[in-house]
Amino acid sequence: MPTTADVIIIGGGVIGCSVAYHLARAGVNVTVIERTGIASGASGVAAGMLTAVPEHVQKGPQYELAVASLKLFPDTLKAVHEASGIDPEYIQAGTMRVAFTEEEEAALKANLPNVKSVIEADWVPGDDLRQTEPLLSSEIRGAVYTPGERQVRSARLTQAYAQAAGHHRARYQIGQMVIGLTWQGNRVTGVRLGDGSHLSSDHVVIAAGPWSGFLTEDLGVTIPVRPVRGQILSIHRMPRPLTMCIYHNHEYLTPKVDGTVLVGATYEEAGFDLRVTTQAVHDLLGFVPRLVPELADAQVTELRVGLRPGSPDDAPMLGPVPGWEGLSVATGHFRSGILLSPITGLLIAESITQGTTSMPLEPFSLARFG
Ligand code: FAD
Ligand code: GLY
Repeated sequence: MPTTADVIIIGGGVIGCSVAYHLARAGVNVTVIERTGIASGASGVAAGMLTAVPEHVQKGPQYELAVASLKLFPDTLKAVHEASGIDPEYIQAGTMRVAFTEEEEAALKANLPNVKSVIEADWVPGDDLRQTEPLLSSEIRGAVYTPGERQVRSARLTQAYAQAAGHHRARYQIGQMVIGLTWQGNRVTGVRLGDGSHLSSDHVVIAAGPWSGFLTEDLGVTIPVRPVRGQILSIHRMPRPLTMCIYHNHEYLTPKVDGTVLVGATYEEAGFDLRVTTQAVHDLLGFVPRLVPELADAQVTELRVGLRPGSPDDAPMLGPVPGWEGLSVATGHFRSGILLSPITGLLIAESITQGTTSMPLEPFSLARFG
């Protein structure tokens, strides 16, 4: 077991594992510390949609980050698949955002130029849509189709990053909890572990999802991350009922290669409560036959809960922690941590190894919260 590392990463979710992969690939001696298991948090629960253009996000740094990350996916997936032997199950069929009412159609069409300015997108009338997805409800008037917004299997992607980082000599301490940081002056020097030991390093990256804020309390630094509960169901039916991700407002159906369809999700301010609730199951199951009537008899196979790491402005917190040397943060990815994982890993690795980044990190600095 090492007692030193160049970089310690706290958290074995998709963000910590992508940072580990990008650093290890650059030759950095990395140790990831994960208290439960790789992908045991939201990263193992997420639907895996790579949707860069949720309707509420206007053009700006967050949009640019999402689109840049989307572009990195094909090469990143190929590299981690090869290095790890784990297939992240990339599905390239694209996404449909559907409208049931005239108002919904008008809203989607009004936003279309905005979407088109960053990514390929088109309006598809309902009848054309059902040529591709014959089981979709005849009540659907049409949809915005974005062929470049694809999907992966989140837990597999996270495991693939982790194994690929291991292939490049990253080390792991699983089942070990970080209970605090160590520091001298304004330089962070390592971490304190739950078993009473210390691990020293030149740099620490906090990628502990919604728990990240607890780790800097002793430094007097606030990381304003909070848990946003998401409940999600798995249903199953063969033959595969859908090929594309189907979105309606914030609810979605995400078909996987094995005939599973993920039905998501709730967005709840429920603290660290990880219960599946009756109301959520009722609401999510009600949504399924409205979109795809034939799925009313699909088998329910799993009920899951994850805690999204939310931030005050819904944008991630990335890069050096102001006022401290040797400390970076990578959290607050909220609904898009899977999508943003390649660009986050790349930028944090560049920031630590080169001191400069290929896209500006300033819009995502903790400093924006004052
Ligand atoms: P986590 O996955 O929470 O990982 C943090 C890890 O840190 C955990 O494993 C935890 O055990 C560990 N940890 C915490 N504290 C400590 C400590 N003190 N010591 C050691 N280890 C510690 N995003 C998308 O892009 N597309 C989607 O389709 C999508 N769908 C989603 C659906 C649902 C229902 C949910 C809940 C989320 C979804 N997301 C989606 C969001 C995405 O899951 C998150 O943004 C992302 O997983 C966050 O990753 P993370 O690594 O920051 O956090
Ligand atoms: N991005 C989908 C979700 O967070 O549920």
